[in-house]
Amino acid sequence: MTGETRLAARYLRKEFNAPGTIKSARLYITGLGFYECYLNGEKVGRDVFAPTATDYTKHVNYNVYDVTNLLNNGGNTVGVILGNGRYFSMREHGVRNFGFPKLLMQLEIEEKDGKRTVITSDETWKITTDGPIVANSEFDGEEFDANRILHGWCENGYNNSGWLNAGQVTPPGGKLIAQRNPNIQIMKEIKPVSVTPTGKGSYMVDMGQNMVGWLAIQGKAKKDKPVTMVFAELLTPEGNLYLDNLRSAKVTDRYIPAGDGLFSWEPRFTYHGFRFVEISGLQEAPELEDLTGKVIYDRMDDTGSFYSSNELLNQIHKNAYWGIIGNYRSMPTDCPQRDERMGWLGDRGMGCVGESFLVEQALLYEKWIEDIRDAQKPGGSIPDVAPDYWDVRTENVTWPSAYIFAINMLYEQYGNTRPVKEHYPAMKLWINHILSNFTTDYIVTKDTFGDWCMPPERQELIHSEDPARKTDGAILSTTFFYRLLQIMSKFADLNEYAADKEEFDQLALKIKNSYNEKYLNKETGQYGNNTVTANMLSLVLGLTPAEYQEKVFENIVAKTEGEFNSHVSTGLIGIGYLMRGLTHNGNPELAYTIATNTTYPSWGYMIEKGATTIWELWNGDTADPAMNSANHVMLLGDLMIWYYECLAGISTDKTDVGFKKIVMRPFFPEKLDFVKASYNSVYGTIRSEWQKTGNEIEWTIEIPANTTATVTLPKGMTVEIQREIKNRSITDDVTSFNLPSGKHILQLK
Ligand code: BGC
Repeated sequence: MTGETRLAARYLRKEFNAPGTIKSARLYITGLGFYECYLNGEKVGRDVFAPTATDYTKHVNYNVYDVTNLLNNGGNTVGVILGNGRYFSMREHGVRNFGFPKLLMQLEIEEKDGKRTVITSDETWKITTDGPIVANSEFDGEEFDANRILHGWCENGYNNSGWLNAGQVTPPGGKLIAQRNPNIQIMKEIKPVSVTPTGKGSYMVDMGQNMVGWLAIQGKAKKDKPVTMVFAELLTPEGNLYLDNLRSAKVTDRYIPAGDGLFSWEPRFTYHGFRFVEISGLQEAPELEDLTGKVIYDRMDDTGSFYSSNELLNQIHKNAYWGIIGNYRSMPTDCPQRDERMGWLGDRGMGCVGESFLVEQALLYEKWIEDIRDAQKPGGSIPDVAPDYWDVRTENVTWPSAYIFAINMLYEQYGNTRPVKEHYPAMKLWINHILSNFTTDYIVTKDTFGDWCMPPERQELIHSEDPARKTDGAILSTTFFYRLLQIMSKFADLNEYAADKEEFDQLALKIKNSYNEKYLNKETGQYGNNTVTANMLSLVLGLTPAEYQEKVFENIVAKTEGEFNSHVSTGLIGIGYLMRGLTHNGNPELAYTIATNTTYPSWGYMIEKGATTIWELWNGDTADPAMNSANHVMLLGDLMIWYYECLAGISTDKTDVGFKKIVMRPFFPEKLDFVKASYNSVYGTIRSEWQKTGNEIEWTIEIPANTTATVTLPKGMTVEIQREIKNRSITDDVTSFNLPSGKHILQLK
């Protein structure tokens, strides 16, 4: 992909009079791709990159701010800066371009005497492109020329005689809607861990963490001698920036000083995924405190905490957290650094559930499912990327299934039924589209990406070439489709569409039979060519008949322990089910081994090699840079779910959802001494802390008000508790009982 499209930012201004005493003022605004609004020199709000990005021909978000405190009684000035964002696309070819930046604004002022004044973005405004931001692009960076700073441009009395009159432009076409999800903000600030002279007159900055955002800098420079910052995730063995995996993204910010001496600057309309920054053009070495990493993502709270006696598990949790927040850019993206940064659906199918344990991402996902629906064709087809800035429409099943999985996540994790209702017609349309176009004899035949990025047989490969490692595409699409039908049956039920439910159930049954007929070897209990992914999906998604389940699971364990030496053998698809699959079917210790491996392929291996996020490839250190990001979240699969549901033992009941009824069912790995975890559910904080002492385990549980918990112990374990236990039952040596809200201390043996 070539064709840089960096554009100068647009500066717009208008002076106006608010004669009376102001009682209240509200700003309704959207600026595409990005706007920043100033009133009398002060920035409105703390949002950056606003509004959140959409397919602008379908929907355009606007924001509302209470700006009463920013206005004067009398003369006022409103100023707006517009950046490219995703509207004026980052590339000439390949990425959808919606046109030049645009503004729509309405400021409503109410005075004490009841008079209303409305200021709108009309032809009385002035505009210039001759401001200091001479170029901006999300892929390529921002360039700022301090000689062109427009001192006082958004205050009263500025001389704008050189500016042009703003003209009316055509609207983008999308329906204007009040944005329901929060905007992106600067959510954290971090300081570098080191600054090292490179010997070439530049300095190498190490942030100590692969982060997403930008670098704010203070330093000494010389007039017109640019200070240049180039960003990368990794260094070469020689200590230079490793840029190959960023492909065509230029990732360069440049500041041109207007005078000699001290300056301070940070960009506005670009972001980078980076740990290292090479800075050139400074007169003196920067101190650590001169540099600040501004970490940006959609405003949301942290929801989870996890700490255990195993440092590697703790570090993986930290890497996962940084990867997850780093890949929210008003949509969940695949990666934040190379010339891509798109809302790839497949990467989130299972990940979205794990993410919900770490951060409160419900509103972001509610927004994203709207993006997905916007991308749906009238016939039902859903693309692999949404918003569809890249038109990747392969009629795949596994990637688009993230649409239904995300809605199910919102329902199960947050108890949100609105998307289940509102999106039902679109979900059903897609199901029927797949059914009528890509299904033969109840086998769903279409698959595009396979079990994407499974560990390949040779370290330099991106994708495996070995047919024995690859899972048949129809196995992936049929098992996924079966699972989707189960979810649709539940959704039909929730919406009281009895006939639909019946239809989904019948169809699921036919698919199950046809699938087992075709892919299950009844002698060996193997599906297809016996990959872990094929057997695991069949088993955990409910296709395997009861009498074969044990055998199929034995094959999963045998293959994992034997051929793969107790390491992961799956890609994006299989990894979504691996950890819970092993745990719930009777081999939690193997799951624990996989989680704590430090040799290839494993999350621990990434950390051994210096990763502070999660890689795109299990072999990210040796594979081709053509597709090799150091900050993808797709290979997390169900690992974070496993941390919270299986190690801490906190999950929601699947019928009384949103943690109204909590299922507490941990397992206690032999090699783990304690876990301290919490999850802020919509009902309040759920806590689970267990600690081994000798042969006993002390387990403290906190259940929020208005919820109850069902506790289930691992087979053979018994419990002692101070207060009376209700509904205790022991079946097959498994003890279960209910607990009311409050704090409980259990002694387990
Ligand atoms: C993206 C992935 C995505 C894949 C699908 C890649 O380039 O980074 O995360 O799912 O393409 O083809």
